[in-house]
Amino acid sequence: MTKLEITNLAVEVDGKRILNNVNLTVESGEVVAIMGPNGSGKTTLFLTIAGHPRYRVVNGDIRLDGESIVNLYPEERVQKGILLALQTPTPVPEVRLSMLITAMLNKKMGKHITDPPSPQTLAQLTKLTTELGLKPEHLGRGVHAGFSGGESKRAEMLQLLMYKPKVAMLDEPDSGLDVDGIAVIGKSIAKLAQEGTAILVTTHHAEILHYVKPTKVIVMNKGEVVHQGGEEVVKTIENMGYEKFFRDVLKITQ
Ligand SMILES: Nc1ncnc2c1ncn2[C@@H]1O[C@H](COP(=O)(O)OP(=O)(O)OP(=O)(O)O)[C@@H](O)[C@H]1O
Ligand SMILES: [Mg+2]
Repeated sequence: MTKLEITNLAVEVDGKRILNNVNLTVESGEVVAIMGPNGSGKTTLFLTIAGHPRYRVVNGDIRLDGESIVNLYPEERVQKGILLALQTPTPVPEVRLSMLITAMLNKKMGKHITDPPSPQTLAQLTKLTTELGLKPEHLGRGVHAGFSGGESKRAEMLQLLMYKPKVAMLDEPDSGLDVDGIAVIGKSIAKLAQEGTAILVTTHHAEILHYVKPTKVIVMNKGEVVHQGGEEVVKTIENMGYEKFFRDVLKITQ
């Protein structure tokens, strides 16, 4: 059983305060959806949890299973089982996708990173690649090198499904996906949760949540969590828009 707890978190980027007093908990098997207008701090929250060096925690704590992780390097956080699928993944043309996934799994299992994958791992990799709507040739290409937007999102999901992290953060996994892609990614998120991963996912759309039933929906505004509710929040926001939701429902004066 995994538990990620964020308490009273405040974060500065390049000396500018971006997040304030963020409180959030996610456990194994839960999917917490994080919504909020552009610039409300969703990506900042994920990069902070992942340990990006520019994101400085100036107050509060982030604990994984009771142990603070705020002073750990990003690689140490990955080693502890916290993985981030970026909103805009960075191409790493010199590393093949299959090599990256093999190296990640080897590191997780304490093997040498260049050890060859087992036949079972290879079979699983090929199966998931096809299920995600990618071609086997993608595995032989540089990571995200020349991948279309939707292919990159599917490749990020492939890494998560193979690695089975304790905590997965997915930053807009549905952006740029076609309708089939949204279904595939949505079902994959639900599968990861069923297998015990604690999931944080940001989205601007209700569609993906047809496939993923979020345990709770958190709404951010200007670096703060301003509302927490169930799935109905997504529909309300989609119908009203943020401005009206904040003004008329939450009575926030902007
Ligand atoms: N280095 C920086 N210097 C100044 N401001 C920054 C810096 N990095 C991020 N910000 C600001 O922090 C705020 C939060 O950005 P963030 O990317 O977390 O938003 P978001 O909720 O993910 O938005 P979107 O829905 O557009 O992805 C934005 O106003 C952004 O301009
Ligand atoms: Mg973002």
